Amino acid sequence: MKPFGSIHALLMATEILHTVFSTDLPLSNPRRGKVRDMYSLPPDADGPRVLMVATDRVSAFDVVMPTPIPGKGCLLTAISAGWFDWLRTQRIIEDHVLSLNVPSIPGTPVSDLAALEGRIMCCRAVKIIPIECVARGYLAGSGWSEYKRDQTVCGIPLPAGLRQGDRLPKPIFTPATKAESGHDENISFKQACQAIGEPLASRLRDVTLRLYASANAHAAKKGVILADTKFEFGFALDADGNPTDRLLLADEVLTPDSSRYWPADTWNPGQEQVSYDKQFLREYLLQLEKSGQWDRTPPGPELPAEVVEGTLARYREAAQRLFSTEAL
Ligand SMILES: Nc1ncnc2c1ncn2[C@@H]1O[C@H](COP(=O)(O)OP(=O)(O)OP(=O)(O)O)[C@@H](O)[C@H]1O
Ligand SMILES: [Mg+2]
Repeated sequence: MKPFGSIHALLMATEILHTVFSTDLPLSNPRRGKVRDMYSLPPDADGPRVLMVATDRVSAFDVVMPTPIPGKGCLLTAISAGWFDWLRTQRIIEDHVLSLNVPSIPGTPVSDLAALEGRIMCCRAVKIIPIECVARGYLAGSGWSEYKRDQTVCGIPLPAGLRQGDRLPKPIFTPATKAESGHDENISFKQACQAIGEPLASRLRDVTLRLYASANAHAAKKGVILADTKFEFGFALDADGNPTDRLLLADEVLTPDSSRYWPADTWNPGQEQVSYDKQFLREYLLQLEKSGQWDRTPPGPELPAEVVEGTLARYREAAQRLFSTEAL
């Protein structure tokens, strides 16, 4: 399949022309995730399709903030598309992406379609497998919390003496439930087998670890550590909307929303790492929590301009380091 074209051109499209907080397109079956709006598109010869629109919404602690991060959806789309493109060359698994071109949507003004440029993906519709497939190569986040308590991560025993941010002896698969609402919960591999069957769980574990190893090696060449990441998989639907046995890599891949990225040159185990992900926003929110101004329940607080700009700068730097040599 042909690549999606110049990632640089896509990144240039992030020169912020439009801020999109939410969409209301005249397409069937609208669904709103925390960050992305989804719609059904008319099927093609191979089956049902979906339109995914990456908005400028940002979520932290599973709560969507009321303040958009202008252009974030374009950066996310560029990073995800860049990785899908690259992963195809690795031939590990087929993915769900069909096109990045804005489809014609009858009844939608040209100005509304222009706002979608650079932030949409037309994808094969899948039945998502209800397990978040996480690979971790380093000790951070919930993995670090569990390790401090039990010397395990998702029940996997690890050597003593590891520090926060340390590289693990080898990358591990740490699945989580895909909660319909509320927080995703880490589960053991055995629990994943109970949920979706051992053969599929083993297959997802192997594919996840191969994807992680490839991506981490590629990121390393750009001076970036991929500390951990989450993939979602699904079975393509047939014309009647029933799942087939065609397993696809779905959702977004390897974005700062689904991954922990650290600049390699500042990596320093034994503390919280400098990162390109939402840690900057989380730290601001933790301060609010400490001073009793927010308690992690919706609605989220309005974000000040410096937090919006700081967050965007980190996403932009991740995109630039991973996929572009020129300043954005
Ligand atoms: N090809 C696809 N077909 C159908 N659904 C998909 C496909 N790819 C991704 N999805 C689903 O679309 C949604 C994307 O929206 P978003 O990531 O904003 O949701 P979210 O709030 O993070 O929810 P979730 O926790 O379920 O990921 C996710 O629920 C994801 O599982
Ligand atoms: Mg999601």
